Amino acid sequence: MSENTAPTPSLEDIVSLCKRRGFIYPGSEVYGGLSGTWDYGPLGVALKRNIMQLWWKMFVDDADNMYGVDAAILMNQKVWQASGHVDTFSDPMVECSNCHSRQRADKLADPNKCPVCGKTSTFGEAKQFNMMFQTVVGPNFAKTRQEAAEGSDFDEKMDYNSNAVSYLRPETAQGIFTNFKNVVDSFYPDVPFGLAQQGKAFRNEISPRDFIFRSREFEQMEIEYFVHPDQWEAEFENWIARVHAWTDALGLPESSVHELEVSGDDRAHYSKRTVDFEFDFPIGREELLGLAYRTDFDLGNIQRVSGKSMEYRPKDGSPAYVPHVIEPSFGLERAIMAVLSAAYTEDQVNGDKRTVLKLPKHLAPVKVAVSPLLKNKPELVEKAREVYVMLKKEFGAVMWDDNGNVGKRYRRQDEIGTPYCVVIDFDTVEGDTTGTVTVRDRDTTEQTRVSIAELVRTLQ
Ligand code: GAP
Repeated sequence: MSENTAPTPSLEDIVSLCKRRGFIYPGSEVYGGLSGTWDYGPLGVALKRNIMQLWWKMFVDDADNMYGVDAAILMNQKVWQASGHVDTFSDPMVECSNCHSRQRADKLADPNKCPVCGKTSTFGEAKQFNMMFQTVVGPNFAKTRQEAAEGSDFDEKMDYNSNAVSYLRPETAQGIFTNFKNVVDSFYPDVPFGLAQQGKAFRNEISPRDFIFRSREFEQMEIEYFVHPDQWEAEFENWIARVHAWTDALGLPESSVHELEVSGDDRAHYSKRTVDFEFDFPIGREELLGLAYRTDFDLGNIQRVSGKSMEYRPKDGSPAYVPHVIEPSFGLERAIMAVLSAAYTEDQVNGDKRTVLKLPKHLAPVKVAVSPLLKNKPELVEKAREVYVMLKKEFGAVMWDDNGNVGKRYRRQDEIGTPYCVVIDFDTVEGDTTGTVTVRDRDTTEQTRVSIAELVRTLQ
């Protein structure tokens, strides 16, 4: 039996486990890293996909008025001009008078002390720093490389045609709004209906920090839910309930999830009401995801700038209107960090400390680990292989584990959150219990004998 010992993990506990066990590594680590970027290893990518699939199932497949899209990351620059991001998607930035490092002004713990050099500093007045990553699409430089080589100076060579400027999208939402009319024309949905998208978003954060919590490249899962303007309040309340169903499905304790009504000054430029869902992360209570009432801000802007109507015509012949939007916006990295923090447990098993990730079974990267008790006994290995193949066919995410002794394997599987370990031992191949295996439960550490014929059904 296991006994719970440690309270909430520290951020270092999570970072260290993620690195050690192949969940998440620092981006470009072999070259010294690239600040604000992270790479997912074999277990991290499995966890990430399980969360993405759960989200898609809950919000798209299980609903009858939701449609998925997958828009290009690079979009016409007019998208970001119309949406207000070119003008307003910025954070206040200050510079340390000693080390000249640049910091986010609204996140400075001490307005007189630099968090980088540690010295007393004057930061001066904040400047607005636009967080979009700008790029150039196509070979659209004012001069080609050859023309530049034939006499122009270097700066001229880099003087690109400003019409070719694009941005790595800072939110997935705009790829949904720009496809609103396409989906309406293809599917004739009744309002209310939603468009959902999962994908990368990029922000040149002034101070990326706290592991994957604030990164420069991350993944969003967003829904734009189109409603009649008179219905937005009721629909907003429905979405509050749906978001709670989501945090439950992630296995986050209700007591660690908090709603924060965001005040007018702190809301994004497009929102008339925002509720942030915060979570008690190891770094403190911070935003997990946001729910915003975006009004007709985005469709209205598209209509104005593109000159194309974004009006919706109800089938019953009532007057056409531009729908309003409720937007639940889920950050995948923050979901991963919350799931890992909630699952991370230290307890005692037979007097020994153990670290165990008590992940909800549907999110665990590996569902079952299969081991022969001893790897130098061909009769055990052969039987274990048979069991492994059988389980893999059924559950997919099954790991073969014959490293070290059984105790070490259990510890390793506990640390990665594998709900069950199946061990093939001498009792499997001889004596009264032939045809049975040991199934060990991650959370209770209890071991039971189950016949191979019943194993799939038992694990299900
Ligand atoms: N479309 C609305 C939107 O993008 P947001 O509050 O800026 O709203 C939504 O972002 C969610 O995206 C946040 O609640 C958070 O989960 C995630 N997110 C935002 N910036 C992030 C960053 N730098 N690193 C990781 N996740 C981030």
